[in-house]
Amino acid sequence: MKFLITAGPTREAIDPVRYISNRSSGKMGYAIAEAAIAAGHEVTLISGPVCLTTPRGAKVINVITAAEMFAAVQKSLLKSELLIMCAAVADYKPMNFSQQKIKKQKAPLSIALEPTPDILSSLKLPDRKIIVVGFAAETESLRTNAKKKLRAKNCDVIVANDVSRAEVGMESDDNKVILFFQNGETRSLPRAKKKALAPKLVTIFASLAEKS
Ligand code: PMT
Repeated sequence: MKFLITAGPTREAIDPVRYISNRSSGKMGYAIAEAAIAAGHEVTLISGPVCLTTPRGAKVINVITAAEMFAAVQKSLLKSELLIMCAAVADYKPMNFSQQKIKKQKAPLSIALEPTPDILSSLKLPDRKIIVVGFAAETESLRTNAKKKLRAKNCDVIVANDVSRAEVGMESDDNKVILFFQNGETRSLPRAKKKALAPKLVTIFASLAEKS
């Protein structure tokens, strides 16, 4: 099957040397890409800036900003059977990019931010079924918020993870997830290395695509 996977953070520039971003390392998305390749699937990996080795056998598209990731997803979507949105896309970007490095001043500095487009919510899906997997990164009310995102972002399944703790979620080698499906089913995968969770996730995602 043809997997389109996003991974890592995006960076939104403030000036030539500064940006806002988040702590996503790309480990979860890259592990899914590697597991999908190992299972014999075709993988296009759209990656934000990370310090990881490119998975052998994947077609990798490197992007920096949310807008670039959005464009790359739209371009590859119609060639895919599954979209796995594991990237931590920045929700906001500075309203104005300063062409010159902003000078340090004594007074507090405010930077106005505007929302980036929501990639999942803005997808123009073709008649042909594409399985859409979202991830929900939560620091509170994990189940409630993940279920809201499943509906709001029109996903077939959402993979919820707690990003408030150091030992799982963002940056860590481990994760612990709960999957919420459109039909109301849920499935918990206990704490394990991301590399061990990834093949299980790939099997679940591929079986959804087979059934559709
Ligand atoms: O990279 P790691 O360090 O290994 O960490 C993995 C992870 C915690 C980043 C990953 O498992 C994860 O949860 N990824 C989703 C992070 C996120 O942005 O979650 P969210 O709840 O803010 O967004 C929900 C969904 O909407 C996500 O699928 C996201 O890709 C998508 N989104 C978000 C913003 C935006 N502008 N467009 C989107 O499509």
